[in-house]
Amino acid sequence: MLLEGKTAVITGCSRGIGKAVLNRMTAQGASAFALVRREDAAFTEHCAALSEKYGVDVRMVYADFENENAVTAAAREILKTKERIDILVNNIGVAFPQRMLAMTPMEAVKRSFQINVFSGMLFTQLISKSMMRGRRGSIVFLSSSAAFDGGANIEYSAGKAAVLGEVRRLAVELGGFGIRVNAIAPGLTDTDMGGITSEEVKAAAMSRNIMKRMGEPEEIADAAVFLASDLSRFMTGQTLRVDGGLL
Ligand SMILES: NC(=O)c1ccc[n+]([C@@H]2O[C@H](COP(=O)([O-])OP(=O)(O)OC[C@H]3O[C@@H](n4cnc5c(N)ncnc54)[C@H](OP(=O)(O)O)[C@@H]3O)[C@@H](O)[C@H]2O)c1
Repeated sequence: MLLEGKTAVITGCSRGIGKAVLNRMTAQGASAFALVRREDAAFTEHCAALSEKYGVDVRMVYADFENENAVTAAAREILKTKERIDILVNNIGVAFPQRMLAMTPMEAVKRSFQINVFSGMLFTQLISKSMMRGRRGSIVFLSSSAAFDGGANIEYSAGKAAVLGEVRRLAVELGGFGIRVNAIAPGLTDTDMGGITSEEVKAAAMSRNIMKRMGEPEEIADAAVFLASDLSRFMTGQTLRVDGGLL
């Protein structure tokens, strides 16, 4: 049990990597605040099943991360419980269909940055205050291999690179409070987001990695468990590349 007795806040739990992180972290003994955009009966049932199976608390929090007021309200709802937060996983992300900068309206760039960069930053600002009081914690951001190789849209690649700068600065600011901050940069992973990438881009991505396949959400989630746990206690400000070997 790598996370026994800890409490995690995980964003974007409805599906994909976020749901796998929720499953893996609760299996390792963590209670969770699971952030989803809206109420959904199947997801509510899923959380109840995790609670029952692993003997942990799983509480749902609803927020649309395109809306700053909703992000603030969600953080306040969590902080109001006065529970000590040990882990924050900033997982929410969007990718728009592949196109060049020349074909990209600035509105799309701003919307992408709002969700992929600014909302996670605002949410971290609010949640990390509670972690600072507890003088310990681990924060994990989901970046992307696109931050290194420009393998996706301009707004996505640039936003995911911005996340890496944010991770380094936060590691510097929060280290003195016993809080570690790291990123995961997944390669193409088999989720709805992975699925929207064109067949051509998918084939190119798979041909470039050593393992010649897409990642599974659970393989990314296992890296999040590692970074959240004491197994990575001497790591901060780092980016773990989980991409099947994109060299
Ligand atoms: N899949 C890949 O190939 C890949 C590769 C590198 C990095 N990543 C990164 O890994 C993270 C997870 O990606 P994924 O593959 O699991 O994506 P996904 O299957 O598309 O899931 C995205 C998650 O983010 C949530 N979300 C998106 N916009 C939101 C909003 N405005 N407000 C609240 N929630 C919102 C979605 O909620 P709803 O269900 O309500 O839409 C969903 O839970 C992202 O940061 C992504 O950029 C993914």
